[in-house]
Order: sequence, then C-alpha cells, then structure tokens
Amino acid sequence: MRTPPPIFCGTLFGTIAILGGCQPDVSSSFAADRKVQFVDSVLGTLSVEDKAGEMTQLTLGMVCVGEKSDKLEEPHRLDTAKLKQVIVDLKVGSILNCGGHAYAPAQWHELISGIQAAAASKATGIPVLYGIDAIHGATYTSGAVMGPQQIGLAATWDTALVRKFAENTAIEVQASGIPWNFSPVLDVARDPRWPRFWETFGEAPKLVGDMGVATVKGYQEGPSPIAATLKHYVGYSRPLSGKDRTPAWIPERQLRQIFLPPFAAAIDAGAASIMVNSGEVNGIPVHADGHILKDILRDDLGFKGMLVTDWEDIRFLFKRHMVAADYKEAIVMAIDAGIDMSMVPTDLEFPVLLAELVREGRISESRLDESVRRILSMKYDLGLFESGGMPPSLETYPNREDVSGTAARAALESITLLKNEGQHALYPEQPILPIGGTGRILVTGPTANSLNYLNGGWTGTWQGKKTKYNTPGMPTAVEAMREEFGADRIAFESLDFNFGDRDIKRITSSHDSRSTQCAVVFLGEETYTETPGNVEDIELFDNQQSLVKALHGAGIPVIGVYIGGRPRTHAGIEPLMDAFVMAYLPGDFGAQAIADVLSGAFNPSGRLPFTWPRFASAHLTYDRKHTENISDTSGSEGFQPLYTFGGGLSYSNVATTGIELLSPDTVSVGDQISVKVTLENQGTRSSTETVILYSQDRVASITPAVDELRAYKQVVVPAGATMEVIMDVSTEDLGFFGRNNEYTIEPGTFGIRIKGEILDFELLQ
Ligand code: BGC
Repeated sequence: MRTPPPIFCGTLFGTIAILGGCQPDVSSSFAADRKVQFVDSVLGTLSVEDKAGEMTQLTLGMVCVGEKSDKLEEPHRLDTAKLKQVIVDLKVGSILNCGGHAYAPAQWHELISGIQAAAASKATGIPVLYGIDAIHGATYTSGAVMGPQQIGLAATWDTALVRKFAENTAIEVQASGIPWNFSPVLDVARDPRWPRFWETFGEAPKLVGDMGVATVKGYQEGPSPIAATLKHYVGYSRPLSGKDRTPAWIPERQLRQIFLPPFAAAIDAGAASIMVNSGEVNGIPVHADGHILKDILRDDLGFKGMLVTDWEDIRFLFKRHMVAADYKEAIVMAIDAGIDMSMVPTDLEFPVLLAELVREGRISESRLDESVRRILSMKYDLGLFESGGMPPSLETYPNREDVSGTAARAALESITLLKNEGQHALYPEQPILPIGGTGRILVTGPTANSLNYLNGGWTGTWQGKKTKYNTPGMPTAVEAMREEFGADRIAFESLDFNFGDRDIKRITSSHDSRSTQCAVVFLGEETYTETPGNVEDIELFDNQQSLVKALHGAGIPVIGVYIGGRPRTHAGIEPLMDAFVMAYLPGDFGAQAIADVLSGAFNPSGRLPFTWPRFASAHLTYDRKHTENISDTSGSEGFQPLYTFGGGLSYSNVATTGIELLSPDTVSVGDQISVKVTLENQGTRSSTETVILYSQDRVASITPAVDELRAYKQVVVPAGATMEVIMDVSTEDLGFFGRNNEYTIEPGTFGIRIKGEILDFELLQ
C-alpha cells in the first residue's frame, strides 16, 4: 500500500486560504511552483486505475442505500459497501447530485464526511471533489436563501449586487461542505423557445459576460470561496428546433461573435472549471469536438482549468448521437477531444473501461496525466488536501439574516415595469400603477399563490416542483399582496394552470368594475428545466389570455404580472392590460418585491435583458441586422418587438435630453471615446436610471448589426433633477469577426446611440 500524499496548504486560486487553512506566506510564483511540485509528486504515485478513478464523477445515489437511480425520493443514507466499492475500489474522485432533494446542513455534513472518510481510507487518500448546482442560492441546502434566477439577476444590470449575491451563495454552499458549483450559465439566450432561457443572463453577449465575471468573482474570491463552472460550453442555447439538447448550426463567425465572448471574459477572470454542452454544433457532438474543446478553448481562449462533461454525455455519444459504436469508442473520442472528467454518473464501467483503453494502447497514460494534473490542481486550490474535504464546523454555519438581504434587494431591482398606461375609473387623476386609493383589488391567475412558480427549476429539487422543500415562512404573491395592501382589500380568486371558461365566468360574475379598483392577474409558467421545459409554442396559454379578455371586458382595469422564465407572446391581449410587470423567477423574496413595486413602496428599476417578441414566429434580438428591420420590399417594419431589450419604466420618468461627444469626433483605434449624457428626472420621485449605450457601425465588410451594446451605467437621479453622466467606450471593442473569422476593427463612421439620441464619429486606423 502506498502512503497517502503529504498534507499541504491548499489555497483557492493561489490567493485565499479556505476551510480554516493557512494564508500563503510566499510570493505567488513560489506558491505556484509549490503547487506544481505537490501535484506532480501525487501524480507520480498514482496507478492507471487511480487516474481513471480521478477522472470519474458519479451521482450521490450510487453510494447510497437503495436503487442507484437518482429519481429516488431519498438517496440520502450512505451505503458502506457501495462507498467502498465506488470510492476505495474504483477510486472515484468526484461525486455530484442533481437528483434527490435539498438536505439540511447537518445532513450534508454527514454525507460529505462519510464520503471523505471513505476517500481517506483508500491507498492514495485523495479527497473527493463534490459538485452541486447551486444556481440561485444554495439550491440543495434546505433553508438556504433563494434569490432570483439568472435572468432576473441580469435585469438588475447591477454587477456589484450580482457579485455579492454569488458571494453569499458561496458562503452557504461552502458551509454545507461543498466546494464546487456548476454555475454560472454563460449561454447567450437567443431563442425563448429554449427551455433554459431563464438560466441565462439574457441575449446580449456583453451583459452575459459582465454578469458572468461578477458571478465567478463572487464564488471564487469572496470570504468563503468555492470553484465556479462556466456552462454549457458552447452553443447550447441556440438549437435550431428550440428544444433542449437538439442540433445547433452555428457558423464559426457567429460562435466567436456571440457565444464565445462571455466564456472568454470569465476565463480571464479565473474560472476554475467548465462544463461542456450536451448538444451538437454543426453536426458534431461538442463532447467529441476537439476543435471546440482544444483549439478554441485551450489555444485561443487560454483556459487552463478543468473540463467536465455534462450528465452522461460520453455514453450518449453512442446511445443518442450515434457517432460511436460502443462505450469504449465513445470514451476514446471524448478523451481525444479534451475531456478531463466524465459526469458518468450512473454506471461503474467508465473508470474500468478507461483503464482498459490505456492498457490496450488506445489512450496514452500521458493523456490521462494531463487531465489528472488539472483535477488534482483544482483539489489543491480548493484546500481539499489540507482539510481532507471535511466540512467546516456546523457552528460556523451562517445566519440566514446575514445573507438574505442581497437576495431580497436583487429581487426588488429585477422587477421590470414594461407598461403603465391605464387608469381606473375610481381614481382617474393617477396612473394605474402604483396602486393607490382604498378600493378592492382582485388578485387571480395561476401563479398567484405558489412559492415554486416564483423560484422555478433547480429549487429544492431538479424541476423545483415539490412544495415540501420550499423555504418555510416565505410568502406567495397573494400573501405578500395581503400584507402590503391589507387583507380586507384583497379579493383572491384561486386558479390552477388548467382553469377553464367556467372558472373565468365564476370570477367575472362575482366581481365588477364598480366594486373592484383593479385586477392583478398573475400570469406565467409552471416550473421546468431542460427537456421537461420543451414547448411546441411560446404563445401565452389560451386560458390566461381568455382571463385577461374577460376581466377587461367586464370593465375592470387589468395589471398583468408575469412570473416565468421566458417571454411568452401575447400581442392580442397586450392592449387589454393597463399595466404589465415582468417579475421573471425572482425567488423567495419575489412576492414581497412584486407587492412593493405594485404599491409604489419601491420605484421599479429593472430593465429587460432580452427582446420580448410580439409574434411567436418573428423573434429577433436587439442586435438584428439591417435587412431584418424590414419585412418586405415595400420597407415595412420587420422588427416589432412587444417590449425592447433594455426596456423598463419607473414611477418617475428619467428622460435622456442630450448626448455630447467629449472626445474629438475623429479618433484612432486604441483611443477611448467619452460621451456626456444629460438626464432629466421629470417626475416627483428619485429614480434609478440605467443608461444603456449602443454603438452602430455604419459600413462594415461583414454586415453590421443595427445596435451593439457597449456600455451601461446606473445612476440615481433625484426628483426633478438634471444630471450629467460620462460614458466611456474603448475603440478596441468596436470590432467584429471578419471574413477570416479573426477579430478586425475597421475604420469608418460609427454612431453612438442612447435611447433616441444619436451622434456620429470617425474612427481612423
Ligand atoms: C445539466 C447541467 C447540470 C448537470 C448536473 C445536467 O443535466 O445540463 O446544467 O449542471 O445536470 O446536475
């Protein structure tokens, strides 16, 4: 039996000691050398089987009592015999779970300690790397703080807040004993049919990249660092059919222009790991695509971290994609393509076959060394060799109050007021929102009374549907409305998603416009993620549209509040709603945030991070091409979103009254452009305004987009005040991927647009 490796001081990304570890007292290059020496010394002691085991990740159910299936309700008691078989005999180096459900911190500690004790008893003693999907707070720890899903976080346009929220997530995940998070999603959402639209930071590569960097830094550089995973590299979000894990066709120029930049930015920010797209791009499953996984990822983007597959994706090379004849051929393909760790996660064959392939000479041992070096480095960076991967003391588990404020603030900042035009007969002197007066408020709609619909998928469980894992004490929308407006003002009509005409009649016959000030109708979607969220149509459900029509027909002013992860088209009923609020999936604090916005206790500041289509078959993004602006040769309008990217109102309108170039109107590549923007708050309340700046390339050798998001800034403009804001744009950012797919900056005339204000300047070589 070999002796376990020596215990070293492992630090996260060379800077911060975790899990009670020591601070580095050496220069970072010396520390880096020490890490290399340590990793090499461990690697030198490993057998081929040890290495194959390190490259294997299994699901928690595989070491628990009962069936191996992750669909088990309770895969939560460790099975000693299975632990020995998996961790000691097969030397499996990583465990995850997305099946099962949220556990209390104490139960996590029991699970993780049991797994790490088994790891310590194997010959190498290398601790297990446990990974989890904590995608909007510590989703698998019961009682943890659940904030908005990524699409809502993006709507805040507040990267500092998003970074803080990620720090807090890391605190709870790490306190549960878990050092590795499968987050953030850096897929760029270009198609609302795709069922993981809500898991993204929206449609603009720059916003996705900025939010991604903030999240990575929050996870990795906060007080309790955990490792981030960028996913799903790359092209996952744009399948031709709109359905999860179906083929995408993305020319390399578009890949580089739209889908790679967020990954590039987050890699530069030091992201520890990346998860691969389960789908295929241009006919090649990404798990078998060395061009994407090596040439682009390692050579072009300089990624040095660890590359993990998504769920079962090596097996799927022969089971689903049909590019390999059997499991062994699939393994050869994926390893050749550059995979470091296989999320197997429900068979015991992978490590056995991988070792066999090395003995047969089909995969070289040095290729295994490459991956195992990355895995050991990550374990070292996370301090696992020092702590044995054991969870920190439960006594240090954070107080919920200490980490909940940011989630509540993020929910508030995300809520986006998209329309506020109507009035109610009882109070004709004021707009429909905020809801003033003292009249009765009818609250109805299928998302009005559910914490699950506020949270969405990946909450307590994978699909987020089970009420028993909800955070106790957090209000649903109607409960928060009662709290905010007084229970006696709220008339609640409960509906589930399958309500029909009889339910609608019941409601309209019991409420009329004389006795009802307004109806707040909670529209939207049930929870889903991945393939269960595939849809045939993104039009809003017929019954929800009928409900709005009926209430409008009864003369009751309608305020629509949409709780859901993707924009559903509803052009037919949009004019029938006096106000419309997008709440996204705001999490446990979402109900209070919605109520605060509806009452006016909070002046809304959210801005839409995507384009809301008017017609289901005519979806375009804000950075459409000029030819997409016209629908036919007569020149009629082809770009008619229902709500535009960046859109959002407040209760005190801030107008952009002028923009002025502070730099000369002729600049050279490398120069910075500065623009002075004048804002005027025309109302009576202080408003947070997000100034959004687009560039417009007037003529380019590759057809330019109409607008490209280049900069944004948030400022608070006091009531009645005029304010000047300086926005900077680097000319280095004005390029695009040219005919040879290389980044090119072409001289010529460029425009800067902020709302309706546009100015031009000349860019010289
Ligand atoms: C999802 C990933 C997730 C993984 C592990 C997969 O089904 O696509 O986003 O990280 O499961 O739970």
